Amino acid sequence: MTDRILILDYGSQFTQLIARRIRELSVYCEIHPATVSMEEIRAWDPAGVVLSGGPASVYEAEGLLADAELLRMGVPVLGICYGMQVIAHLEGAAVRGGRREYGRAEVEIREADALFRGFEVGSETTVWMSHGDHVDRPPAGYRVLAATESLPVAAFRAEDRDIFGVQFHPEVAHTPRGGEILANFVYGVCGCEASWTAGSFIDDAVGRIRGQVGSEAVICGLSGGVDSAVAAALVHRAVGDRLTCIFVDNGLLRRGEAEGVERTFRRHMGMKLVAVDAADRFLAALEGVEDPEEKRRRVGETFIRVFEEAAREAGDARFLVQGTLYPDVIESVSVRGPSATIKTHHNVGGLPEDLSFELVEPLRELFKDEVRLVGRELGLPADLVGRHPFPGPGLAIRVLGAVDRGRLDILRHADAIYLEEIRAAGLYDDIWQAFAVLLPVRAVGVMGDFRTYEYVLSLRAVTSRDGMTADWFPFPHDVLGRMANRIINEVGGVNRVCYDVSSKPPATIEWE
Ligand code: XMP
Repeated sequence: MTDRILILDYGSQFTQLIARRIRELSVYCEIHPATVSMEEIRAWDPAGVVLSGGPASVYEAEGLLADAELLRMGVPVLGICYGMQVIAHLEGAAVRGGRREYGRAEVEIREADALFRGFEVGSETTVWMSHGDHVDRPPAGYRVLAATESLPVAAFRAEDRDIFGVQFHPEVAHTPRGGEILANFVYGVCGCEASWTAGSFIDDAVGRIRGQVGSEAVICGLSGGVDSAVAAALVHRAVGDRLTCIFVDNGLLRRGEAEGVERTFRRHMGMKLVAVDAADRFLAALEGVEDPEEKRRRVGETFIRVFEEAAREAGDARFLVQGTLYPDVIESVSVRGPSATIKTHHNVGGLPEDLSFELVEPLRELFKDEVRLVGRELGLPADLVGRHPFPGPGLAIRVLGAVDRGRLDILRHADAIYLEEIRAAGLYDDIWQAFAVLLPVRAVGVMGDFRTYEYVLSLRAVTSRDGMTADWFPFPHDVLGRMANRIINEVGGVNRVCYDVSSKPPATIEWE
């Protein structure tokens, strides 16, 4: 028997959360579209199947169902919200509409074994509901496991098989004991072992990489960010010196970053590293360009050219490492099609698809937090593994308007002070992203007896789960005051500091 769970996606915004919760139980799982065939499901050989929630109704044309055979193949199934209605519908029960419910609810537990092992019969537990349709009566041969005052069937199970449904969302944080319910399903009902760990992933990945690349040479572009660093370290573990890393210093990085990459990879990790100082080329390409998208295009184009040259010089590698993560993979096969919230500009700065390399993508199965765990296990420094995301075009989109060396230096200096103070206040890990932005605006100030006319700088810090939405970070006032004071006193050319209190949406995280 396998130890892995298959999640069939019906388009819920929470599907990825189901996967993350199950992975947190150290059980491997994958998300596949609900349209997969029974043959594919059998071939995947899951220990259990979870049917996700979804926005549709089982009676609508776009209301995807499942093959009734899925409930008879002898593999446990858990339907969540819409997934439960799919089970009810396939088993002949009526799914009713017209009573939307959104928010917390108290469910009363009727049976405290299997899914609700560890709960008490008759006790209430808080759950998160988010549904339009519901089931009033369980299908024939099914029993009610939990109910609320207004919802007679909040959870059910088949009498003679391990088929379960819950109307609420155990995967969200608003269901405090949801983790126990998923653990009961995955460990108790499906019999999975907690065997998916960073260590076991590394062992598997090393084997797979060796199998893929054989004795060929591999190259990897390092950006200074977490994903490419972990991908490189993993491939290095697998093929050692047959990996050459290429780091393009585009002159648009933060202070100390280029040196940090060299220190970490060449000295600390002992990897073959080619560092290319291409700052002049990037600055020349950006000269006089004010439009943000045009800046992105030029940075992207220059990067490809510089990278190709460096790769050619490094010898003829057949394989190229990319730090693609699981959310990108899921997005590309989603039942909803590509999400409208993904911006095209996030793909700019990558490499074109027609490069003559075969891709090695060792992180394709991982979520970001798992990448960090793997990075730590591989011995990468903590400050690299915990680093905030940084955009490909770098400081070019944080110096608003035309970019030049002088303005980049001003921004780099202020940004370094800002991050230093955030770290000193112990707040770095509470923030998703923090950075300074140099505005193309000058303001009047006074310094000693002199009137000044200098740049205005904005500080930005946001909290976020995935970068799609974000809230501004509420710094304590004394911390804000200290940051502004230091920047104005220490950075020549800036006489005013603002703090950006816009949320996303309607603002974006970056200013350009
Ligand atoms: P926005 O500004 O769209 O940013 O709210 C969301 C996340 O994406 C990052 N970002 C980029 N990353 N190339 C990148 O690699 C880009 O052109 C780019 N633009 C924005 C941004 O830093 C944030 O994490």
